[in-house]
Amino acid sequence: MEEERFPNQYYMQEVHDYMRTAGEEFIFKTKYQNMGLSAQRKGAAAPELQLPYPDTVEVISLPEWDKVTLFNANILSLINSRKSTRYYKPISISIEELSYLLWCTQGVHEVIHGVATRRTVPSAGARHALETILLINRVEGIAPGLYRYLSLEHQLGVLKKDSSTVNKIVSASLDQDFIRDSAVTFIWAAVIYRMSWRYQERGYRYIFLDAGHVAQNLYLSAESINCGVCVIGAFDDDEINNVLDLDGQKQFVIYMAAVGKKQPSR
Ligand SMILES: Cc1cc2nc3c(=O)[nH]c(=O)nc-3n(C[C@H](O)[C@H](O)[C@H](O)COP(=O)(O)O)c2cc1C
Repeated sequence: MEEERFPNQYYMQEVHDYMRTAGEEFIFKTKYQNMGLSAQRKGAAAPELQLPYPDTVEVISLPEWDKVTLFNANILSLINSRKSTRYYKPISISIEELSYLLWCTQGVHEVIHGVATRRTVPSAGARHALETILLINRVEGIAPGLYRYLSLEHQLGVLKKDSSTVNKIVSASLDQDFIRDSAVTFIWAAVIYRMSWRYQERGYRYIFLDAGHVAQNLYLSAESINCGVCVIGAFDDDEINNVLDLDGQKQFVIYMAAVGKKQPSR
């Protein structure tokens, strides 16, 4: 029956079995029809909506996300003025601005039956399998270091207060030095089972698509408070995962974005 629906696929499989590149292999094996029975369909319990954190983790409450004065709220103008910005003023952003950016990128509107969330961004199957880690350099009232966004609580969890972590992140990002000048750098890590529980290997496609939505919301929301953004896809996977204590298989960095107040001439 499958062969009737997708006759060419089986022909292509024979021809290409020994000559597919990694990319072609990925596209082939993650086709919908090659998905197989997911853990969800087999009855496995839904994974947690957010990575747990021990009670001992210091938590910082964020102000409500709507406490910022927008510099520009015209959506067409924001889309037209958005560009990747790698030069930032050496000044802090406020905690209200950080709260706003986190809300716009991952804010949780609703928890659905305890197994899914609806957020400010779309996500395949509402799986929302990204965690946001923040490298904070210059945010008023928050010590430089590494933090986690606890999206369900709209809070920050402290990972490491250490102003030297930035050096490791810059090094892992192939020495893209503008990270050092950013007020904050967002690092999005995939928790792949949260997605593959429903979509098996095809989930690997979806999580990258999800990240694109998140990053675009960051570009536009940052623009609305006169901040510039540059997304970062060039990094040493192993090095960045090591710095963040991610195993690189179940959890791994997929995208980053530096943010800071715009230099007027840039
Ligand atoms: C997936 C992706 C990865 C990127 N990685 C980097 C990066 O590692 N470093 C960087 O400086 N810019 C990076 N960029 C930004 C692009 O260089 C930028 O979007 C492009 O030059 C177009 O410019 P614009 O964003 O100003 O329109 C990346 C953009 C995308 C979409």
